[in-house]
Amino acid sequence: MRLAVNIDHIATLRNARGEQEPDPVAAALLAEKCGAAGIVCHLREDRRHIKDHDLARLRQAVTTKLDLEMAMTAELQQIALKTRPELITLVPEKREELTTEGGFDIARHYEVLAAYLKPFNAEGIEVSLFIEPDKRAIDLAARAGADIVELHTGAYAEKLPDEEKALELKRIREAAVYAKSLGLKVVAGHGLNYINIAPFREIREIEEVSIGHAIIARAVMTGLEEAVREMLRIIQ
Ligand code: PXP
Repeated sequence: MRLAVNIDHIATLRNARGEQEPDPVAAALLAEKCGAAGIVCHLREDRRHIKDHDLARLRQAVTTKLDLEMAMTAELQQIALKTRPELITLVPEKREELTTEGGFDIARHYEVLAAYLKPFNAEGIEVSLFIEPDKRAIDLAARAGADIVELHTGAYAEKLPDEEKALELKRIREAAVYAKSLGLKVVAGHGLNYINIAPFREIREIEEVSIGHAIIARAVMTGLEEAVREMLRIIQ
């Protein structure tokens, strides 16, 4: 199973001080150096973390695979076609949310979506749709021209009683098997961490997981020790 690393929160941290560090591009290169199969960034409409200049620099620097997460807007379509990431992932986006909440409602947007995807299909930019692990959504994704479905694991990742968690996992597994049977590539993501990832190793149909928050949060804690020691070495 491959790992795609979402580096949005490196930009969140940088933006907290309006300075240059930490640099999301440097983080992307480190993740690639360690074996990440792809780098994910979400250019949100409000640009709260990744900015346009980050995306341009990421495009220059990333050599594995750049996945641009985006809302289905005309502005983002133009930016994506100009930037040419290896793939785009369409996500629903609400201004007030803390992070992406739930999968894309394909049934509601089907006609607009199918037209929206055409230039990406024509340009050879792969399209991934972030959807709920649900058969109908998978059918519509395939019909609309998606190459990949990213199954939303947010509900599974929530604090749930064991039985409900097992049911969510079953839903994800069945959805993965079904999507693969239609010829779609299958990715999973949202809320995955160092503990809840374990059962995903057994789901062969899921080729890749997309993880951001858990990795960046862990990086802060594992890196803090060395950062403090280094400063002490300088001042003592
Ligand atoms: N996949 C998608 C489509 C997302 O929107 C996000 C969050 O940006 C992720 C994966 C990563 O989620 P997390 O940060 O919880 O690992």
